[in-house]
Amino acid sequence: MNLHIRWMIRRDLPAVLAIDAGLREPWTEDEFLRRLRERNCIGLVAERGDEVVGFAIYRLRPGCLQVNRLAVHPEHRRRGVGRKILEKLRGKVDGDRRRFLSMWVRESDADAVRFLAAMGLRARLERDIYSDPDEDAYAFLWGHPEADRVQAGAGAPEVRR
Ligand SMILES: CC(C)(COP(=O)(O)OP(=O)(O)OC[C@H]1O[C@@H](n2cnc3c(N)ncnc32)[C@H](O)[C@@H]1OP(=O)(O)O)[C@@H](O)C(=O)NCCC(=O)NCCS
Repeated sequence: MNLHIRWMIRRDLPAVLAIDAGLREPWTEDEFLRRLRERNCIGLVAERGDEVVGFAIYRLRPGCLQVNRLAVHPEHRRRGVGRKILEKLRGKVDGDRRRFLSMWVRESDADAVRFLAAMGLRARLERDIYSDPDEDAYAFLWGHPEADRVQAGAGAPEVRR
């Protein structure tokens, strides 16, 4: 069945929350709504038939697209859903106004690290980003080759935990 990527709407929230509930640090419904009310924060969903099987939340920042969340329903993993969502997001990097895409993940998030590396993003280790437990992060970057050097720190997690 075809996979369709579209904007997230309010009606998608129960399915999105159900996928997010399986993640390590799930967001509450209020956290989703608060972010999605911000002008520069956007949600996407991946739909197979009428089922939401994955989603992403991202922010348009000056010069960069910062991916805050990207997740696929466990029963739909390893079938190209994450790839299709990320390809959609990469298509928004235009080399001009938005020169790169960034995503920060915990160093120990093995699936995320393997996925982002397989998708061709470049990883930079950032020290002491997370707490509970204390942990380093990988900043994964895609886009302008100078982005790593010029934009050190850009797109860092909104809250340093
Ligand atoms: C990470 C995640 C989004 C990947 O989504 P997905 O739909 O399963 O990924 P895809 O099927 O598009 O995988 C694309 C490629 O990434 C790599 N990859 C994805 N998941 C992987 C894993 N668990 N182990 C190793 N490689 C993996 C593979 O090379 C894969 O290609 P292949 O299946 O042809 O070998 C999904 O596992 C997930 O939701 N994890 C929990 C949330 C999370 O970690 N979010 C942060 C993501 S950046």
